[in-house]
Amino acid sequence: MTKLGVNIDHIATIREARKTNEPDPVAAAVIAELAGADGITVHLRSDRRHIQDRDVELLRETVKTRLNLEMAATEEMVRNALEIKPDTVTLVPEFPGEITTQGGLDCVRHFEHLRTAIQRLEAGGVAVSLFIDPEDLQVEAAQKLGVGIVEINTARYSEATLYLTLKTELEAEKALEKLKAAAVLANSLSLRVHAGHGLTYRNVEAVSDIPEMEEFNIGHNLIARAALVGLDRAVREMIELLK
Ligand code: PXP
Repeated sequence: MTKLGVNIDHIATIREARKTNEPDPVAAAVIAELAGADGITVHLRSDRRHIQDRDVELLRETVKTRLNLEMAATEEMVRNALEIKPDTVTLVPEFPGEITTQGGLDCVRHFEHLRTAIQRLEAGGVAVSLFIDPEDLQVEAAQKLGVGIVEINTARYSEATLYLTLKTELEAEKALEKLKAAAVLANSLSLRVHAGHGLTYRNVEAVSDIPEMEEFNIGHNLIARAALVGLDRAVREMIELLK
């Protein structure tokens, strides 16, 4: 069974829409854990558009499973992480104004910069995961960077499965093959394989059938369902699909 990390950023998005104090990501984390989530993920963005520093501090104290902090490899964020000490940090690229994370890290191009950030985080006792596209070069560079985990970007597969036509079905198949190949390669290089981005109740099963996939980080679609059916039920329904 693939594990489920619930990304609760969009609970904070609803709160920040009114700059008020509800709904509280801490309450969401508690409900997600009680429903069986294996971990809680938040992305502390440089622009603080949803999750705030205080949320991460409170979550560090309250999360009983594992807290995964998504962040850019900036000086500010590395310092934050070394103070908060989440169980894992997932390094992601971040660009001003983007609606969501656009693609994986370029571990080849930014090798030295990433190496410094990874060394500092791991020396501080924080395990590091790298969010990468399903490309051999990126998987190999991640392994050379010495991390233990990669999170493979499922965005291309997810986009192809959003509206099913004959054309997108072929694209989805191809994208799924790439995810499989990247997972097999990463596993053969002794990397643990996580995945995420755009996964939904309709497309997740095919990816969770890839035996090397250990854990998924799922946010938007799960929180969207939670808005209509409740978070407890949304988490339980996702876990059923991952069995
Ligand atoms: N993994 C990473 C690295 C992400 O940046 C995101 C989006 O914050 C997710 C997983 C979750 O994606 P989604 O919200 O589309 O499920």
